[in-house]
Amino acid sequence: MITEYTTQQSDQKFIKGFSKLSKKQKIELISKYFKNPAYAIEILKRYHHEDADTQKLFDEFSENTLSNFYFPFGVAPNFVINHKNYVIPMVIEESSVVAAASSSAKFWSDRGGFRSMVLSTTKIGQVHFSWKGHREKLEKVMPRLKEELIAGSDHITINMNRRGGGIREIELVDMTSYMENYYQLKVNFETVDSMGANFINSCLEEFASILKTFIANHELFNDDEKDISIIMAILSNYTPDCLVRAEVECDITEFDGIDAAMDGHEFAWKFDRAVRIAQIDPHRATTHNKGIFNGIDSVALATGNDFRAIEASGHTYASRNGKYSSLTEVSINGNTFNYSLEVPLAVGTIGGLTSLHPLAKLSLELLGNPDAKELMTIMASVGLANNFGALKSLVTKGIQHGHMKMHLLNILNHFGATEEEKKEAVHYFADKKVSFARVAEYVANKRK
Ligand code: MEV
Repeated sequence: MITEYTTQQSDQKFIKGFSKLSKKQKIELISKYFKNPAYAIEILKRYHHEDADTQKLFDEFSENTLSNFYFPFGVAPNFVINHKNYVIPMVIEESSVVAAASSSAKFWSDRGGFRSMVLSTTKIGQVHFSWKGHREKLEKVMPRLKEELIAGSDHITINMNRRGGGIREIELVDMTSYMENYYQLKVNFETVDSMGANFINSCLEEFASILKTFIANHELFNDDEKDISIIMAILSNYTPDCLVRAEVECDITEFDGIDAAMDGHEFAWKFDRAVRIAQIDPHRATTHNKGIFNGIDSVALATGNDFRAIEASGHTYASRNGKYSSLTEVSINGNTFNYSLEVPLAVGTIGGLTSLHPLAKLSLELLGNPDAKELMTIMASVGLANNFGALKSLVTKGIQHGHMKMHLLNILNHFGATEEEKKEAVHYFADKKVSFARVAEYVANKRK
């Protein structure tokens, strides 16, 4: 029986058994939370896919699904990365991100393009446990324990081993100086072309159970020491050893003409300052890195990768020296301007959503079906391109100039402008500053 109920502690309404309802029942129940339930139902249904199988696929990605939430799927052409030409699929709702990536791509494709290299591909997982005993004893049994962990997780690792991946290293970490009786098994994995979260977590849970049995049965430990408490077993999304670098380089005079108000040297100087400010000041660094993730996340979304994991890792990496800082760097040697991004990217091109979401599959095809390493080089280059686009605007005309031009259509849509009105407005604002108030005034005047 499905019920809505309140508790003694609160007069909030709770729903019991919601997940057991059919999709139709869920929509009907939730529609009552809106001022106009009929309208809410209409909107939720409007975004259902007309093909029942496709809709079922989407419903099964998550739970309690009522509808689909559309994001624009666009492309940034003209990316040259390691001498190869790419059209990059990007899924993002923010106007001007694709435009910035495209214009940076074009600029750098005329100057040799992006160079990008994968520096490492190791991922980490941890079994966190609590154990009272002498550390030396644990250290003594580690070689045997490692053998048992490897052998006992064979059924999980067999396919990954065949693909060239698997468990690389198992280490005992003594954390007792941070918390009493706290230890870790820290495990290095290679997951080749899959992001590997499921593989890593399955291995770690198996390890946890093997560890518990091993300690309980080993003759070296007395009764007290046989008591081990597994706290948790989980991958770490911080992947500083799954790292990629992207860079571009040119002669400073190549920036002549990039802006009417300054020559190449002044541009390079201001650009360098802008990056250094992001290296010094965490407030600026956060926005600076956000712009990098505008590019990286939109490719992650388009290719069905886990953008939350990527972001989490990137921001931790940005703090690796004890203070949150820029992920990009500039070096100027004589007249040579070198600009680079180093970022951890744990991505996959097989498994998960990459092969289930029809548009993710299409995105990967558009990229030439890259392996995970190639996708890392692509994403890092797009991140660098977006950072270049943002800084280029910031140190010249300011960000709002281009941003608001792109945002004009959103504002016009807000006022329900017709296609004709939009065309006229775009023409009218071509040489004027766009602001919400100005567009509102313009629309009101036009409609008088
Ligand atoms: C906006 O989404 C991103 C920027 O703020 C990035 C930056 O300031 O570097 C433009």
